[in-house]
Amino acid sequence: MAEKAVLGFLEKNEGIPDSGQFAAECGINHDELVNVIKSLHGFGFVDSQDIKRERWVLTDEGRAYAATGSPEVQFFLAIPTEGIPPEELQRKLNPSVFRIGRSQAMKNQWVEMGKQRVTRKVLNVEDTVKDLLLRVQDGQAINPEDIDALKRRKLIAPQIWKGYSIRKGTNYAPERKKAATDLTRDHLQRGDWKELEFKEYNFSAKGQPTEGGHLHPLLKVRQQLQLIFLQMGFEEMPTNNFVESSFWNFDALFQPQQHPARDSHDTFFLQVPSTTKMLPEDYVERVKHVHELGGYESRGYGYDWKREEANKNLLRTHTTAVSTRMLYLLAQKPFAPKKYYSIDRVFRNEAVDRTHLAEFHQIEGLVCDRGLTLGDLKGVLKEFFSRLGMSKLRFKPAYNPYTEPSMEIFGFHEGLNKWVEIGNSGMFRPEMLLPMGLPEDVRVIAWGLSLERPTMILYKIDNIRDLFGHKVDLGLIKRNPICRLGIE
Ligand code: PHE
Repeated sequence: MAEKAVLGFLEKNEGIPDSGQFAAECGINHDELVNVIKSLHGFGFVDSQDIKRERWVLTDEGRAYAATGSPEVQFFLAIPTEGIPPEELQRKLNPSVFRIGRSQAMKNQWVEMGKQRVTRKVLNVEDTVKDLLLRVQDGQAINPEDIDALKRRKLIAPQIWKGYSIRKGTNYAPERKKAATDLTRDHLQRGDWKELEFKEYNFSAKGQPTEGGHLHPLLKVRQQLQLIFLQMGFEEMPTNNFVESSFWNFDALFQPQQHPARDSHDTFFLQVPSTTKMLPEDYVERVKHVHELGGYESRGYGYDWKREEANKNLLRTHTTAVSTRMLYLLAQKPFAPKKYYSIDRVFRNEAVDRTHLAEFHQIEGLVCDRGLTLGDLKGVLKEFFSRLGMSKLRFKPAYNPYTEPSMEIFGFHEGLNKWVEIGNSGMFRPEMLLPMGLPEDVRVIAWGLSLERPTMILYKIDNIRDLFGHKVDLGLIKRNPICRLGIE
């Protein structure tokens, strides 16, 4: 309606000099008109120029007097022709009208304030204040002295008024057709599709983001590692048991029962069920024997091995527990060489910081064959890590209860331009392999590393909590590049 009025008016007139006046003449709300002008301006239908005006508006008090008359006139009219005792007059009027009315009426010399009686000094009075207020209310001009007087009595206050003057714009048309965005059944039935103006396609608008599943960086890196293992002829081990017994996690690995890693500070023990139900008894006997007394040319640890300790359930601290189970199974059949791998979760009761969580993913590989040597281990590691993009390796002697020799693996990271620790490795001890029943000349070379470490390096994440756990950065999970191992 306001839009029609503006465009219609401009069809026959030069322009609209004052939106305030125009609104008043057309009976349109000015705020509504302003919105229409802004929109028409935006589309080039009109050119508009700001107008700012200071104008006077009535205060609350001013509005009250405009309605009921000024206090001085109310005061005057309350005095009967014969006069009235002041107290009685005071009772007739409200206190502020009495107070203000009295002083103004006296100033105007309309009344005589006697001690006994208040009397009129003139016959008639005119309410000029009320008249002035009504004119201000109507937006009519009044002279500067009157403005001053009303301002001093706080009956009017200034207000900045904003409006526009407008003229036809470059896209002026007597009517703005709403551009259609869709061709509907109704358009076709009514036949008005012929006149429709369609909104232009915005080819540079971005489409809705597709919502769907997103692969976590750890999953991407894991998949690439799985491919490497598979290309190298490795088979995946079943790792679907986070809960393990101490026996498979530690004892079978020739890890003594007093070993600090078994301490509850590093290991999460289960309360329910707290112990395992079943272990292969004859094998348990051989493990007990090798711990206590040795055998297979070993002296053992010479301590009193406790079955209760081995029965305790825990969250596996490494996937080497899985490797151990697999090697034991292998030993139950006529020997055949194997290459095994796994990538899955392990749990350690560690203080959480930028690089540690209480759980992580372990990558584990092993080769089991007759007559393998440390040279074979180094060769396999070279092959494996070069496929990860690390062809320069260094080894440092290390200690694991279940491997001898043991080596920490360092790789030169071309991107970071430094040597970084990338894993742990070794040859499983005879004290671990022979009680299982594997042939004497069978050697097992193995290594392990975390999945988080290479993932953080590849994706340049320096806080593990951004990658995994309850503080994970969901933006990162939704938008991360494909994983390309071996290319920096
Ligand atoms: N289990 C070792 C660890 O937790 C890794 C490892 C696997 C070491 C195999 C040697 C051989 O770090």
